[in-house]
Amino acid sequence: MTHYTGLIAHYKDRLPVSETTRLISLGEGNTPLIQLHHIPRIIGKNVDIYVKYEGLNPTGSFKDRGMTMAVTKAVEEGSQAIICASTGNTSAAAAAYAVRAGIKAFVLIPEGKIALGKLAQTLMYGAQIIQINGNFDKGMALVKEVANHAPVTIVNSINPFRLEGQKTAAFEIVDELGTAPDYHCLPVGNAGNITAYWKGYSEYATDSATHKAVTNKRPVMCGYQAAGAAPFTAGHMIDNPETIATAIRIGHPQSWDLAWNVQRESNGWFDSLTDAEILVAQKMLSQFEGVFCEPASAASLAGAIRDIKNGKIPEGSRIVCTLTGNGLKDPDTAISQCEETRPVTIDASLDAVKRAILDNM
Ligand code: F0G
Repeated sequence: MTHYTGLIAHYKDRLPVSETTRLISLGEGNTPLIQLHHIPRIIGKNVDIYVKYEGLNPTGSFKDRGMTMAVTKAVEEGSQAIICASTGNTSAAAAAYAVRAGIKAFVLIPEGKIALGKLAQTLMYGAQIIQINGNFDKGMALVKEVANHAPVTIVNSINPFRLEGQKTAAFEIVDELGTAPDYHCLPVGNAGNITAYWKGYSEYATDSATHKAVTNKRPVMCGYQAAGAAPFTAGHMIDNPETIATAIRIGHPQSWDLAWNVQRESNGWFDSLTDAEILVAQKMLSQFEGVFCEPASAASLAGAIRDIKNGKIPEGSRIVCTLTGNGLKDPDTAISQCEETRPVTIDASLDAVKRAILDNM
């Protein structure tokens, strides 16, 4: 008998699978919800902040939640190949789950704009990588077009099964806290994930068998973008998005209407942060909490900190920030921020090692 782990097996009552569905899983989900112990004190505010550390999924990002579902359904429907455009994480996840399923993965990525770890993974999993001399938005447009001309299933978040899988992160948070948080902060690119969380919180507010309301508590949803790639704060699409947070270097979000709906229904907001603010939050998390996320992920905490400081998120609130990807995804950006913490190089002698310790106590 096949033994399944992972989020579909765990939440199958709330996902579109049957008893006979072959699950394509790598044991994703069930990621840690870590309470921050130092940052609230450092910013001098009485708030409870938790981070949902999605970097601990099998390929190191939240994309695995959506991909297990999308590839499971693609296989169930007889698909032999999947395709996506990607800023890196979706391509890594698509590549891994395609291997698991025994089907082919094609990924379109913007040349030179993919973090090193994501490229390494996708190469290792053996996907067919197609680099284009254009950004994510261009790649996405091409993928939508080519799917009409070739037998490939799109596994970007416009595939509704992606959001089905991703909504389970909200289930896990409610299971762990016993209730939804007051505020939920996320980085926003295509806005699929913020849409999926809202779906998850909304569905979990009703009993899956009786469809009766069990709670009316859902969080205020706060979406944060990088200032150079912030169509939601601009109020319109952006043609040449730029940010060091390459994961969210997106100017034409695919879930535009859905995300505005989330903002309205949850009384939430979108805002943007400079690359410098994003990197400060990334480093704070590492150096004060021991949690290493990739730059795009830190936009959620950077936004939360700003809105806690300015009072938009009041004291006494319980806040969850999703850390969408692992810090190991982008070693170049990490190392370039650590000039002052570079390793010291010394003689391989007891005396020199002793001095290196005592001088730095
Ligand atoms: N954070 C990370 C680390 C991401 O990789 C992405 C999206 C997002 C946030 C934004 O999520 O698009 O649902 O609003 N990455 C996609 C990719 C675009 O190709 O890997 P969203």
